[in-house]
Amino acid sequence: MADDAPIAVDPNIYLNQSDDWQSETTSIGSSIYKGIIENGRRYQTLKNEYSYPSDEQQFEAYEATHLAALVADSGRPNPLFQAPLGPSAKNILDVGTGKGSWAIDVADMFPEITVRGVDLFPPPVTWMPPNCILEVDDILHEWTWREKFDLIHFRVIQCAFTPEETEHLLKQCYDNLEPGGWIEHLELHPNVYCDDDSIPKDNTLFTVGPTWDAAGDESGRPMNIIETMRESIEKAGFIDVHEINSKWPLGPWPKDKTMKELGLINLQHWLTGLEGYAMHLFTKYGKPVPWSKEEVQVYVAGIRKELTNPRHHPYQRARRVWARKPLPSEEAEKTVNIKKEGTAAEIPVQVKVEQD
Ligand SMILES: C[S@@+](CC[C@H](N)C(=O)[O-])C[C@H]1O[C@@H](n2cnc3c(N)ncnc32)[C@H](O)[C@@H]1O
Repeated sequence: MADDAPIAVDPNIYLNQSDDWQSETTSIGSSIYKGIIENGRRYQTLKNEYSYPSDEQQFEAYEATHLAALVADSGRPNPLFQAPLGPSAKNILDVGTGKGSWAIDVADMFPEITVRGVDLFPPPVTWMPPNCILEVDDILHEWTWREKFDLIHFRVIQCAFTPEETEHLLKQCYDNLEPGGWIEHLELHPNVYCDDDSIPKDNTLFTVGPTWDAAGDESGRPMNIIETMRESIEKAGFIDVHEINSKWPLGPWPKDKTMKELGLINLQHWLTGLEGYAMHLFTKYGKPVPWSKEEVQVYVAGIRKELTNPRHHPYQRARRVWARKPLPSEEAEKTVNIKKEGTAAEIPVQVKVEQD
């Protein structure tokens, strides 16, 4: 499907508010660490601050993102990642692994590869494949892994890092990848779009993106990294850059079966995750002044109500970027070019844009 093609609407959809897709929730196991409770949500304590909670409700939202990402790329041979790993690949790292589902699925799919997932809070898992290792650490700390990685993966790391931290982190990735190894990043942004006039222009749904962006900027850890992720990866020296831009519907309103399923799961992601994405961020960095817990709850309830209006056809955008660390021969070529041109800005970068 072309990147900007409108999502066709299923004319037969009329949502019953009591349908299963809205009410179904799954309880996820408890964690070994207590964390810190703030406004009724549990947060990690390893790092000074991270805005999203690490509790069962948020892990449930992360599980929905994981499933949504799998559905979104279900037409591809490998829906977990797009980087073309070579047959000799041995090590993969998932940064900010959350519930650990991506790392576990990748380990299951590639039993000969060791897959590490690292997060500030221990993922609530009771079983892992033997080739999967989940670790608790701040990725900004010095990396002590002995092996180099063939793939380093990020998914939804908005509001986690300052621009300086991102730059440092990407350098760490570059230095700790095998030559020819890959970096891959899938990111979402909460801006709500609508291709028909099913949502009035003054609807609260259209405030979501700007409200989160403002709070993210105020915190110093931007929300809107979907706009900058490719540039950051290129700036870190990666080449052979690919990208897929896609629309993720919110709700089961699309006609297409896969998009319908994606919309259903993504809606569940929002309904479960919204409060956690908002609570610390808005009570600390909300604009024009920090919000009260109750203000956050009222705002989030309003968004939920509009999201579940069966006549609305909202969607958000997702972007996946993957790129390669140059081989030594390509590094040498870069050096020669820099010397020849006298400026790093003229390093030839091979760019491929894949439109979905
Ligand atoms: C929005 S969640 C996404 C989780 C997972 N990648 C996914 O897509 O389901 C981001 C995760 O990054 C983790 N994180 C944030 N800052 C981190 C850091 N400095 N080091 C390690 N993990 C971090 C958070 O604890 C959180 O679990």
